[in-house]
Amino acid sequence: MTSQATAEDLRPLAVELLGSPAPPQDPYPKYHELRRAAPRYRDPELGTWLVTTYADCSQVLRDPRLGRAPQEVDSQLGGGGARRPRQARPSMLFLNPPEHTRQRKLVNRGFTPRRVEALRPHVTELADECLDRVASAGEAEIMDLLAFPLPVAVIGELVGVPREEQAQFRGVAQELTAGLDPIQSDESIDRVERAREFFRAYFLDLAAQRRAEPREDLMSVLVDAEESGDILDEDEILSVVILLFAAGFETTTNLIGSGLLALLHHPEQLARLRDDRSLLPTAVEEMLRYESPVQVNGRYALEDTHIGDQPIRAGESVVTFLGAGNRDPQQFADPDRFDVARDQGAPLSFGGGIHYCLGAALARLEAQVVFDRLLDRFDHLELLEEPTFRPSVTLRGVEQLRVRCTP
Ligand code: HEM
Repeated sequence: MTSQATAEDLRPLAVELLGSPAPPQDPYPKYHELRRAAPRYRDPELGTWLVTTYADCSQVLRDPRLGRAPQEVDSQLGGGGARRPRQARPSMLFLNPPEHTRQRKLVNRGFTPRRVEALRPHVTELADECLDRVASAGEAEIMDLLAFPLPVAVIGELVGVPREEQAQFRGVAQELTAGLDPIQSDESIDRVERAREFFRAYFLDLAAQRRAEPREDLMSVLVDAEESGDILDEDEILSVVILLFAAGFETTTNLIGSGLLALLHHPEQLARLRDDRSLLPTAVEEMLRYESPVQVNGRYALEDTHIGDQPIRAGESVVTFLGAGNRDPQQFADPDRFDVARDQGAPLSFGGGIHYCLGAALARLEAQVVFDRLLDRFDHLELLEEPTFRPSVTLRGVEQLRVRCTP
């Protein structure tokens, strides 16, 4: 903490960044403010560390002494025995080794680089179908016509959800992932629990269908793994599938929406990418960095440890602001500039360490295909209205994105 700023001075800023009463529409100036004043900030009243530099976030995510809180520990900020959503059997995202390792190894089979790359032609077909609808609309709401339906179709097919049943998942998945926010009200916990019940009922039914009649999808693989004893039980299958479904599309939806918005706000970068598609990989990394779809995650000290030279005691929690680390000037020169050719190291957007995003290769593939096809098919793209961001701390994305798309 700088000599001038005390924990109390910074509390309102920290509380706002954690989402109370609502997260800022533009958090980046506030991240800079907190990082400058106190890159490792601990407020006794909030009961958690907030870290905002690239190096610290990266270290926290890779430290095996910083893991997931046991279910019985209330790691929700504000503490005081507040409720938090419970799961019958947590998915890998909420587990520590060795359970995490076993579950991840099993699901990883479906996401090897080879399997993901093999999806490219099909992802391109699906993207083109969405872009046909964008073309017919002319003035298109991109979230509705492209950013949501494409990732949901991709993950839906992987898992085994028929196309005609996918549309119902959007609202429910948003309610479920709202449970990832650091501060929860009783109402939001009720919504999370209702959403989880909806998904459980849906996937229970799908599991029964695949048990009776296996197909080529992941649900069939998991049901088979249960029979051969590799997976614990039906509850575990459900939590894995719900995680894939929830983590797998809202994040990618937001990458497409926020990525396009960044291009529209920077016409010279859009023109550069249009003229040189070899920049697609760095452009997608820059979209991930500039507007990280996951802004925040966190860990819990399983043992005493350190962040840099700062001791952290067992039982303390740490919130890592990935969106702030991605704008840390120590790592990324001129960090608020959007530059499709930037190549200064991987952003923190897929996390790090043992929980590093399982779907990173798939998300990158989808985004590269979408932006390539979008630029092939439309000569002019024009933002019709400045969008607002959804009031969520953890998953950042716009509500709507209205764009005039001229072939
Ligand atoms: C742009 C899109 C995406 C972003 C930004 C993203 C981001 C992340 C982040 C930050 C984590 C780590 C969370 C933590 O450490 O607490 C994570 C984990 C995970 N993601 Fe993604 N994700 C994306 C797409 C996907 C897709 C497409 C899938 C699946 C098809 C997926 C599946 C998962 C799973 C299963 C985990 C948990 C891994 C574990 O705990 O070992 N994600 N993701």
